[in-house]
Amino acid sequence: MDYDKDQATAEFTRWSESYDRGILQWLIFGPSHRAIIKRIVANSQSRRLDILDVGCGTGIFTERIRTALPEARVWGVDLVSAMLEQGATRWRRQAGKVQPVQGDSERLPFADASFDVVTCANSFHHYPNQQRAVCEMRRVLRPGGRLILEDGYRDSLWGWFIFDVCVATVEGAVHHASRRRFRDLFTHAGFESIVQKAHHRPAPFILNEGVAPATSPALHGPHFAPAAVDEDALDPAA
Ligand SMILES: C[S@@+](CC[C@H](N)C(=O)[O-])C[C@H]1O[C@@H](n2cnc3c(N)ncnc32)[C@H](O)[C@@H]1O
Repeated sequence: MDYDKDQATAEFTRWSESYDRGILQWLIFGPSHRAIIKRIVANSQSRRLDILDVGCGTGIFTERIRTALPEARVWGVDLVSAMLEQGATRWRRQAGKVQPVQGDSERLPFADASFDVVTCANSFHHYPNQQRAVCEMRRVLRPGGRLILEDGYRDSLWGWFIFDVCVATVEGAVHHASRRRFRDLFTHAGFESIVQKAHHRPAPFILNEGVAPATSPALHGPHFAPAAVDEDALDPAA
């Protein structure tokens, strides 16, 4: 059975209490956060950025972004209220600088062209309609804005074992996209200047980046009227 949002909600409601203390913080979450922040800083040109982090969980990453870019305004969106509630102390500490919002990656509760950067870390494999989520990320980016999307890298033997065998045994039928699939998702959503980089230690993850074009015809396409979405047209795998 395909992993769905009810399963995601149940999984992260259960996991929320211990989430900040697990070994995955060291093995994959921390290293991936550092790699994403490096890319944001490298492209910031010292501008004050508006940044959205999709699947923000308890806010560890949004806090790291703010520490690295003290001028940035940061929003975090997450499906699961228990994860957001678990980060209550952190959100209070960041009040006025970071704004948590409950919402779904496939229907982001933000207007078109709201952000300079959208990030997504360790969350994407939980999204049932990944193409729609990438299109939403593109929709909320300003022209020239950048999506930095990271997830477990399953293309090597070690990655396949960790993500398609071990993680899938624990989490169920989540979907870690291949390098090629990420590129297709980005291309189909209209991203340009796509760059992909795999990191191999301690656990493999892949960083996918794309730039929203200066003119955005896709913003007015059928993808972005939620009532009129044609799922088959959005998903090249369908
Ligand atoms: C493994 S945690 C990653 C948290 C954080 N990004 C990090 O790197 O520490 C995955 C998060 O994705 C969230 N999530 C799962 N499905 C989602 C969806 N459809 N929309 C938004 N968030 C979702 C979960 O609630 C969870 O907080």
